[in-house]
Amino acid sequence: MIKTDKIIIKQSITLASALKVIDEGAFGIALMVDGEGRLHRTVTDGDIRRLLISGHTLDDTLELLDDQEPKVGRVGISPKEAMRLMNGASIDHLPLVDKNNHPISIVVRREMDNCVPLSLPHMSGFEQTYVDEAFDNNWIAPVGTNIDHFEKELAAEVGAKHAVALSSGTAAIHLALSLLGVASGDTVFCSSLTFVASANPILYQGARPVFIDSEPETWNMSPGGLQAAFKDAEEKGRLPRAVIVVNLYGQSADMDPIGKICESYGVPVIEDAAESLGATYKKKASGTIGALGVYSFNGNKIITTSGGGMLVSSDGELIERARFLSTQARDSAPYYQHSVMGYNYRMSNILAGIGRGQLKVLKDRVLTRREVFARYAEALSGVDFIKWMPEASFGTSTRWLSVLTVDRRKSPILPEDVIKWLADRDIEARRIWKPMHLQPLFSECGYFTHGEESISDRIFETGICLPSGSGMTVAQQKRVIDALIELFSQ
Ligand SMILES: Cc1ncc(COP(=O)(O)O)c(C=O)c1O
Repeated sequence: MIKTDKIIIKQSITLASALKVIDEGAFGIALMVDGEGRLHRTVTDGDIRRLLISGHTLDDTLELLDDQEPKVGRVGISPKEAMRLMNGASIDHLPLVDKNNHPISIVVRREMDNCVPLSLPHMSGFEQTYVDEAFDNNWIAPVGTNIDHFEKELAAEVGAKHAVALSSGTAAIHLALSLLGVASGDTVFCSSLTFVASANPILYQGARPVFIDSEPETWNMSPGGLQAAFKDAEEKGRLPRAVIVVNLYGQSADMDPIGKICESYGVPVIEDAAESLGATYKKKASGTIGALGVYSFNGNKIITTSGGGMLVSSDGELIERARFLSTQARDSAPYYQHSVMGYNYRMSNILAGIGRGQLKVLKDRVLTRREVFARYAEALSGVDFIKWMPEASFGTSTRWLSVLTVDRRKSPILPEDVIKWLADRDIEARRIWKPMHLQPLFSECGYFTHGEESISDRIFETGICLPSGSGMTVAQQKRVIDALIELFSQ
């Protein structure tokens, strides 16, 4: 909403003066008020042009204009309603008036048509060359030089020895479980506070997940909860076959204590780093610490191939096996022979081209997302009832998403109130992942908390993900910040 003081005019001014006001106001409109300050009509440069064409001069006054009932909205209407009124009247400006018909602000269509999304793909310009190469060579297939290069370049970027490019992060988790021998009847421990794709592949294998709570410092897997789960599993004589540790919203879990616990029971760790490519843990790249690491290049991720994933490991045999399984597990024979079940999980050579272009700007994307976060934190530092997702001292988070929680003891504002408020202003915000132990799909599965209280429940109940894309402009972010300040100061 834009203040109107600079575009208020009186009927007695000349056409020349009115044009000047319209020009300086930069909205293509002025608001004519009567002696009591009530809105009389709107005046556009078109209105003045028509007067000039019909023979009047710039020195004539606006008294020449017809009376015209202006289309208005009441101050406080939602932007959606404002848009509905503008669409209904085929106008691009809507003056908002108070109960005395005094204009207070104005809604301008061009300022509103601009939706601020949560996290959009952000191309670098390098992608097209690699995609063109694939077309030029006719490597329009899940095989080709882009794939080979993308695997090597990604592995070099994160410091992994081996990598295999796949059709999705979910496929990478599925293959990781398969490689570690997870089978029907097994259990797999998994972070509870995550997207369902972390846990679904456990079901694909006919195994059963047991969920582990978050700890408050990183929102990632609680070593205390993990230890309790292992103790219980040991007592029951049923250790898990693997542990899936998720690195949430761009931040690594505290891998040392988690790794130690898993090692003491001889159970391998799969790092679900779908959301944390570019983050570090004690100077190592997130995703390279477990036995196997998983990245996602889904459209909303820090870099994208539109859809895709990568499985990395220091164990070359595991990655070779994954490559074999991902291409239908074809035996080396002069015909199509298959001894084990395989999958069609390979990445396309075209998409790998996009990935190569994106990888070139990964570091820049991390910096930009961190800057986005810093601007939110700075602008909202005076709001004492919100807290940001903490950044642990052991490494750098990419701040893939900027996430805040609202302190229930200090404010009655609910996440859905914030999301609706922003949605009404064409700004996309989302709830934090609903923990897996609360999902109907997993209602029969075990859950181990960090302590007395379930941390992931609390984070879920109070958390909101804000628009965080690296392609978001500073002006767009200002709209988000202004909307939040308006809500939080009510
Ligand atoms: C934590 C987590 N794990 C796994 C995935 C699955 O990745 P993909 O969408 O590439 O299958 C995602 C994102 O989509 C995710 O956020």
